[in-house]
Amino acid sequence: MPWKTQLIKPRIRAILSKELPAELVDKLPKHWTQIGDVLILPLREELEPYKHRIAEVYAEVLGVKAVLRKGRICGEFRETNYELLYGNDTVTIHRENGILYKLDVAKVMFSPANVKERVRMAKIAKPDELVVDMFAGVGHLSLPMAVHGGARVIAIEKSPYTFRFLVENIELNKVQDRMTAYNIDNRDFLGENIADRILMGYVVKTHEFIPKALSIAKDEAIIHYHNTVPERLMPREPLETFQKTAREYGYEVEKLNELVIKRYAPGVWHVVLDLSVFKR
Ligand SMILES: C[S@@+](CC[C@H](N)C(=O)[O-])C[C@H]1O[C@@H](n2cnc3c(N)ncnc32)[C@H](O)[C@@H]1O
Repeated sequence: MPWKTQLIKPRIRAILSKELPAELVDKLPKHWTQIGDVLILPLREELEPYKHRIAEVYAEVLGVKAVLRKGRICGEFRETNYELLYGNDTVTIHRENGILYKLDVAKVMFSPANVKERVRMAKIAKPDELVVDMFAGVGHLSLPMAVHGGARVIAIEKSPYTFRFLVENIELNKVQDRMTAYNIDNRDFLGENIADRILMGYVVKTHEFIPKALSIAKDEAIIHYHNTVPERLMPREPLETFQKTAREYGYEVEKLNELVIKRYAPGVWHVVLDLSVFKR
């Protein structure tokens, strides 16, 4: 809420301007991300010597129990590995769009920039269709489909640590009757020709999983295909790669929709395509 940040920033400045050199006060973060009662703070290099005290002041003013320093998300499990600056407990329950997400903000990515997509998925799912979420995380995209859309969901998550939160979230949101979780690599999932809808909420290497998605899909299905794309290849990509692979496996593809989720890196965009696939 803008009114809130407008009151908060002067209070933070007032406290820290008594402790920091004047030129550094202007470099204090003006934006931050709050997930549950944990804060993610982007902190410039120059503020390094004061980072713990800065984090403590933000925590006190904003009323959070832990502060993490924003860093890069990386690796197969998309782990955050953010530096802990204040507090010791980074497990929290975040409420968004009527969904409760329990997660460890220090380890599991939960991007505020993806909120529109989480809300969109809540509206797109239909009661009783079967959704397979191949990269479930803590249920980021599929919990809204089960809770608001009434869909049946099979959620697959490879990381054992993230999986624990996924299971807890299914219970917290009371969708045990229609959501089942598997702690496996989605390539080892045995279901074939079962899904009305498939979520491929992953980046960088999502194209490697297209054949598996097609084997899980019914003869006619919808696939929400996320990937990261260099700007110079847009708008041809990522549709071209998906279509090429799908044709090799005997499927036709029709693009229903294309959205940019966020900037992933300089000149690289995270996009999602809604694709209708059908077996020839
Ligand atoms: C970046 S998170 C995205 C969560 C959610 N789908 C979204 O788009 O907001 C991707 C998740 O996929 C999991 N993952 C990566 N490779 C996987 C695989 N082969 N099988 C199942 N899960 C996988 C990661 O551990 C991570 O939790």
